[in-house]
Amino acid sequence: MFAKAAAQNLVYRLFDIPPDDFRRETLRLLTGGVRGLNVTLPHKQAAAELVNELTPRAARAQAVNTIAFFEDAKLLGDNTDGIGLIRDLEHNLNIALADKRVLILGAGGAARGVIAPLCERELRSLTIANRTPYKARKLAQEFSDMGAIEGCTFGEIERPPYDLIINATAASLQGVMPELPGGLVSEATVCYDMAYGRGLTPFTRWAASLKAGRISKGWGMLVEQAAESFLLWRGIRPSTQLVLAALNQEE
Ligand code: ATR
Repeated sequence: MFAKAAAQNLVYRLFDIPPDDFRRETLRLLTGGVRGLNVTLPHKQAAAELVNELTPRAARAQAVNTIAFFEDAKLLGDNTDGIGLIRDLEHNLNIALADKRVLILGAGGAARGVIAPLCERELRSLTIANRTPYKARKLAQEFSDMGAIEGCTFGEIERPPYDLIINATAASLQGVMPELPGGLVSEATVCYDMAYGRGLTPFTRWAASLKAGRISKGWGMLVEQAAESFLLWRGIRPSTQLVLAALNQEE
């Protein structure tokens, strides 16, 4: 839809690559004529290691979701997840982030990409909770120059309720919801699942059962990060409204 709207001639295809083959298969695609790639879980950190150069935001995240292949055989890695999430929250959902108490569930590649852009919005607090606590603490430490960030296990989450809870775990994709303490959600809480799919996800079902003020899946983030990738490859930022409307109709 982006290519059509921007009158660009391109082919965009899906490649399902197992982690062990990521490096070999990606290089094969690029030497075979592919000019750019979107990379998703669980390859985002491996992609950051593969490229020759990182944009500042990808270097900060140490995670890459967009690769561009230039004429001089240089591979540039970018991360458009953060800007994609922020644009969806601020522009599409009309949510102001300044002074908000934010909780991120998960400490993998998806979480990495969004921490710095969120902190730049001058949040009141940021808590990262993860099943494996050392990864949450490590992330909090890594981004500690950007504000007060706390890393903990799900059971240790404190200071509820939160204004915004973002699910950045892969749990939704496995059809499960991590066990969380009570009282995290009020009628003013926005619950945002970075995962997407038809119908409710385990996280959005959980949020609905607790009567969260607003519930959103990551379709908007998907579309906005894709528009930023398109901009890197083609020098044009396509309008996202048509794609968002088409997705909403499909739901
Ligand atoms: P991504 O790049 O999408 O973040 P990832 O790097 O594989 O993917 O990270 C997956 C995240 O989901 C991690 O935070 C992981 O927790 P661990 O660090 O403990 O592995 C989390 N996750 C995956 N399955 C989960 C589950 N069933 N319950 C809770 N958290 C889960």
